[in-house]
Amino acid sequence: MSHRLYIETVGCQMNMLDSEMVVADLRKRGYELTSDVKVADTILYNTCSVRAHAEDKVYSALGTLKLMKKRNPDKIIGVMGCMAQKDQQVIFKRAPYVDFIVGPGQLQQVPDLIDQARLGEEQQMAVGLGRREGSNDDIKRSHETFDPLRDPTMRPTPYQAYLRIQIGCDKFCTYCVVPNTRGPEQGRPPQQIVEEAKVLADQGCLEITLLGQTVNSYSYTDGQGKTTRMSDLLKMLHEVNGIKRIKFVTNYPRDMKQELLETIRDLPKISPYLHVPLQHGSNDMLKRMRRGYTVEEYREMMHLIWDTLPNAAVSSDFIVGFCGETDEEFQTCIDSVREFRFKNSFIFKYSEREGTKAESMLIDDVPYQVKQERNNALLAVQNEVSEAENIKFIGHAVDVLVEGPSKKADKLEQNGPLKQMVGRTHCDRIVVFDGNERQAGQILPVSIYETTPFTLFGAVVTQEAGPEVYAL
Ligand code: 5AD
Ligand code: SF4
Repeated sequence: MSHRLYIETVGCQMNMLDSEMVVADLRKRGYELTSDVKVADTILYNTCSVRAHAEDKVYSALGTLKLMKKRNPDKIIGVMGCMAQKDQQVIFKRAPYVDFIVGPGQLQQVPDLIDQARLGEEQQMAVGLGRREGSNDDIKRSHETFDPLRDPTMRPTPYQAYLRIQIGCDKFCTYCVVPNTRGPEQGRPPQQIVEEAKVLADQGCLEITLLGQTVNSYSYTDGQGKTTRMSDLLKMLHEVNGIKRIKFVTNYPRDMKQELLETIRDLPKISPYLHVPLQHGSNDMLKRMRRGYTVEEYREMMHLIWDTLPNAAVSSDFIVGFCGETDEEFQTCIDSVREFRFKNSFIFKYSEREGTKAESMLIDDVPYQVKQERNNALLAVQNEVSEAENIKFIGHAVDVLVEGPSKKADKLEQNGPLKQMVGRTHCDRIVVFDGNERQAGQILPVSIYETTPFTLFGAVVTQEAGPEVYAL
């Protein structure tokens, strides 16, 4: 009988992609996926360390497995990803029945670790960044062999896939644990990325989302000294037949250069959607966060974006309640959301992380209650802005990549041919319309007649309706 694998993934898109690779690797070896942890003989958690909340969730899930492992000692439990790299032995202290932990740079070892655990090996640990021990070449090689493994069933939809172009991060923002868990920044070789994009296109992907912690800082220098930058890579990927849309996250403000924006403008497959986290609206706070730019520089970048790509949607991340944040300083975040008119913002309450500069140098002095209030206040303003920006779409048609039935359609248990379908515009806005499941995987023109801060509602444009005014 084949093995049954249960896998749970928390955290960012990079983690979702890592899980896809691990599942592909295990399927090749005869594993089947199950969504029921009780029937699984192999249980994996792919973990995130960016905020304490994500870690607490995993420790509590591990807690629930204690009894199960006692009754069925043959079940193999593995903890993968950022928490494994960051906590290492701590995981075994808190959950001694975990069989192995494996860092984000060692995921290709998962099948061996499982086999060894089955043979009775206890508390195995495969972690390491190559920052001190091992050379950068070691990490590069391990990712090069591992990344092309893909498993279409683990994708967001059959038409969309993530594609890693860069690993790690060197920016060392003071609050952030990522450079400690994912190691130094490295671009993958461009030829490999293009090959992988071709494989994805052959498998039916219409949209690829390029992933990197600071994706627009992408750079790769080959043996002959030839350097490929983000704009060069986009031009190469634009040639891949079958791919209709190319997105990329997450961008670093300082590297959002004119040349890159012009490349986006000139290549129709590149989505005019830019996630460029501002993180804070005050220069003092940005300095304490060591983000490497001022609000004035960010503003200049926004003007460059608006001038070059007038239709672009820009989204941001914010951290509220970071060390020493006063009411006045917080207010600058509100002002910047109003000024920069982000499509949406992901807002996070500061969560102190072990091993970061902020933990050792600054005091986490904003009470939780205040963080919560500031989070709510900023979200309310962002929602106002999102709503005002979305209303502008009413009366316009947009090209929607149809992803499938909406969650609401599932809830409504619509059984007839007419279903509420969901998809996204080129600029990453969510669109809901009445359609049918056969439309999934098509790019259709949809005319928008209603909006909320989060969604555009519309109807597929029919021939009879006549010409439409198009938006992106
Ligand atoms: N606390 C809260 N939010 C954080 N982020 C990163 N580190 C922390 C932290 N310690 C947020 C940043 C980043 C996003 C992925 O997570 O806004 O852009
Ligand atoms: Fe973390 Fe800053 Fe790197 Fe983003 S750029 S992953 S916030 S250290």
